[in-house]
Amino acid sequence: MLFFNNRFSLWIVGVLCTALTGVMLISCQMGSAMSKSKSLSSYDEQVKQLLSQMTLDEKIGQMTQAEQDAIKDLNDIETYFLGSILSGGNSDPKEGNSLAAWTDMYDRLQKHALNTRLGIPILYGVDAVHGHSNVIGAVIFPHNIGLGCTRNPSIVEKAARITAEEVRATGINWTFAPCVTVPQDERWGRTYEGFSEDPNVVKVLGQAAVRGFQGSSLNNPLSILACAKHFVGDGGTTTGTGTNAANISITLDQGDTRVDEATLRRIHLPGYITTVQAGVGSIMPSYNSWNGLKCSANKYLLTQVLNQEIGFQGFLISDYNAIAQITQDYKDAIAISINAGMDMAMEPSKYRDFFTTLKELVNEGKVPMSRIDDAVTRILRVKFAMGLMDKNRSVLADRNLHKKFGSPGHRQAAREAVRQSLVLLKNQNKVLPVSKKTTRIHVAGNSADDIGNQCGGWTIAWQGQSGNVTTGGTTILSAIKNTVSSNTNVTYSVDGTGAEGASMGIVVIGERPYAEFMGDSDKLTIPDQDVETFNNMKKAGIPLVVVLISGRPIMINDILDRSESVIAAWLPGTEGQGVADVLFGDYKPTGKLSFTWPRSVSQIPINIGDKDYDPLFKYGYGLSY
Ligand code: BGC
Ligand code: BGC
Repeated sequence: MLFFNNRFSLWIVGVLCTALTGVMLISCQMGSAMSKSKSLSSYDEQVKQLLSQMTLDEKIGQMTQAEQDAIKDLNDIETYFLGSILSGGNSDPKEGNSLAAWTDMYDRLQKHALNTRLGIPILYGVDAVHGHSNVIGAVIFPHNIGLGCTRNPSIVEKAARITAEEVRATGINWTFAPCVTVPQDERWGRTYEGFSEDPNVVKVLGQAAVRGFQGSSLNNPLSILACAKHFVGDGGTTTGTGTNAANISITLDQGDTRVDEATLRRIHLPGYITTVQAGVGSIMPSYNSWNGLKCSANKYLLTQVLNQEIGFQGFLISDYNAIAQITQDYKDAIAISINAGMDMAMEPSKYRDFFTTLKELVNEGKVPMSRIDDAVTRILRVKFAMGLMDKNRSVLADRNLHKKFGSPGHRQAAREAVRQSLVLLKNQNKVLPVSKKTTRIHVAGNSADDIGNQCGGWTIAWQGQSGNVTTGGTTILSAIKNTVSSNTNVTYSVDGTGAEGASMGIVVIGERPYAEFMGDSDKLTIPDQDVETFNNMKKAGIPLVVVLISGRPIMINDILDRSESVIAAWLPGTEGQGVADVLFGDYKPTGKLSFTWPRSVSQIPINIGDKDYDPLFKYGYGLSY
């Protein structure tokens, strides 16, 4: 608790609430949840007026989101009155990936929307999940797992604020973030998207992120719409027999969360209560099921719990093609989801199909007009709140913001976040901090000089990618070189050979980038190549510091025993200088584990509060100098 400054009295309220049971937790926080979301319904007069002028086609269009990459003909924006467009994980502008191309693309698409009869602007959504992470040159912050280890809501808010500014520089106005998942099983490939296995951390940091993205008002031109995801229980899935979408023999991603309601409320719901309190304008129902029923089909969860009980007044956006997963028949799936409370459908390439099918359903009386009006009201409230309907204000990109895109100031904030996110796991013989005057340091490892590995998944490409062409930034190797004295000799080999005669070694190893189901793993081992690197370094007989680059705790027992010092650096992003700040003592480590570190995969799932809790490192562990 000490890590949160006392500005956050909500935290205290939250802690007290957690002591109570699920239902009481909701009612305890109801008051402020209602008052915050009021601001969205305060636009209802204007919304009603506009709604009364809209045809069924125009209404359904507002509920339809297409992928820019998959739009068959840009005039479809007019024909189908599209209310929203997204760029998914691999959706660069056709002119290539650059700040100018992204901005041009946004303007081009938005102009089509302005061409429609009512000229309702589109919401353009991207996964700006750790910075404006699709765009080359953006500053990339640590993934949420690292931010969780800072326990610092103000750094999370700042990261989100800067992300919002960089997103706005491209004209884009919506991020599918924050992810307020509470991962309970590190074998899940999305573990790093979560701040913590502990809902108490998630609810505070998730709320801070919403404050950062949406600013003090959605109406501010530097604010973007936030989206809390994935509602609900995405981090609580149970493994079964079979293979996942990537043919990996573990079925955690998009799986089934088999827990009772009290557990769902205690672990997975708190992050939604606090983000609604902060006024989050959109929420994404999850791919996963709860006790066998897909969340996107669950009327109790979407309408009763989220809208009525928690008081959410924004809109729900389905996950990528998630509606089609509800049942074999697409038409039935749409009816089930919309009737359950889904307001907008992410139908990357099936948007035409979705549009005509939903129209049929309405005409056949299978989806009531009142449900359509409710969905469109929720979407339009947000558009009004964002100032998109203000005729005196341009909704095209403000290119003056380009000069701050990826700027040194923004990078400095990310460097600060990196410093605070590092967790010192071992420091024998006080090998750390390293003296800047050390005669010779040998650096090795596949991730020592690799921006792509540092950034992980959801960076430029959906799965991320290894290498320094990914985007600009400071690798850990260059950060080390920047930091040492002019008399220090820094030598480097990827495979750890040639370390003989150095005063000490720094080995940067761990996981390669992945996202979603591609990252599900039942082994969590260090790649063989990296083990070999470590062994080569070991032969030199010098003290070794290991910097782990990983999206989650991985199995390190052997390396831990055979090295003097180990730092968990998670997926720090583009600002590797923050790692050097800690290595050389310019910043004393303060990070604390936001996940339990298991001794073996067979211990998983293992989480704080379990009985028979005997991990390698406990939740909250972290040394300093
Ligand atoms: C992911 C979401 C993401 C969406 C759009 C889905 O596959 O589950 O987290 O926001 O794609 O890229
Ligand atoms: C898209 C991602 C999306 C994923 C879902 C990818 O092709 O680029 O945005 O999350 O598919 O499966």
